Amino acid sequence: MAKTGDQAGAVAELGKPCSGLPQHVALIMDGNGRWANARGLARTEGHRRGLETLRRVIRHSVSVGLDYVTIFSFSSENWRRPSSEVSFLMSLLKRFVQRDLSEIHKANVRIRVIGERNNLEESILKLLVEAEEVTSGNTGMTLVIAFNYGSRNEIVRATKSVAAKIASGALCADDVSEDTISQHLDTAGIPDPDLIIRTSGELRLSNFLLWQAAYTEFYFTDCSWPEFDEAEYDKALSEFSHRERRFGAVEAKVR
Ligand code: FPP
Repeated sequence: MAKTGDQAGAVAELGKPCSGLPQHVALIMDGNGRWANARGLARTEGHRRGLETLRRVIRHSVSVGLDYVTIFSFSSENWRRPSSEVSFLMSLLKRFVQRDLSEIHKANVRIRVIGERNNLEESILKLLVEAEEVTSGNTGMTLVIAFNYGSRNEIVRATKSVAAKIASGALCADDVSEDTISQHLDTAGIPDPDLIIRTSGELRLSNFLLWQAAYTEFYFTDCSWPEFDEAEYDKALSEFSHRERRFGAVEAKVR
């Protein structure tokens, strides 16, 4: 994506060569429904616009040089929504993978999917697995799609895997460490997010990356997801570049 002068300036401000850029940004794409309601539109129209924002955000993430971007596209709690909205979100995911996979692949982006797979419709699961397989050799940015994802569910599944290994004798309980847990989460091998951005004014994590966000910086904006553009994204990245991260220590630790 071509950057406007202002956007290029904001990115350049991150420091050369992008030393203040987060390695991993995670996005809570909130506010589609409210954006639509405020305009007298159906909530689904908000999600449709949200997908357009997502496309722009992925392109921009690649162009500024992020290594990992995680998107919270459907939570394990989103099943509680009206079935028509759930179906629409499922069809939007299908549309996204079917229409955008070739562009994503061409951009050398690797896709990883996190979340519970057991109760997913076969056709959705097939598409997600295909997206992971097609892009598995790519070496550029990793796009992590959190779909049917809930952090507590992820931690429970990881705990069960660890417990099964202890029961079979493959692992000794005394050897269980923080790394052991991390390695059994869906995000195994993916660095913790440096920055979580949540749009649309809510100040909570909503069961997203609870373990992984131990030292993550947060950026909350009132801007709704459909209105979140490159300039808003750059504002968040720029603010991150000015944060001092101590990771529990006294002096600033440079990543
Ligand atoms: C939260 O907004 C958003 C979601 C539950 C879905 C996010 C989906 C997209 C951004 C479109 C792309 C989708 C996929 C599946 C790739 P909300 O509806 O909770 O907004 P509200 O809080 O204003 O009601």
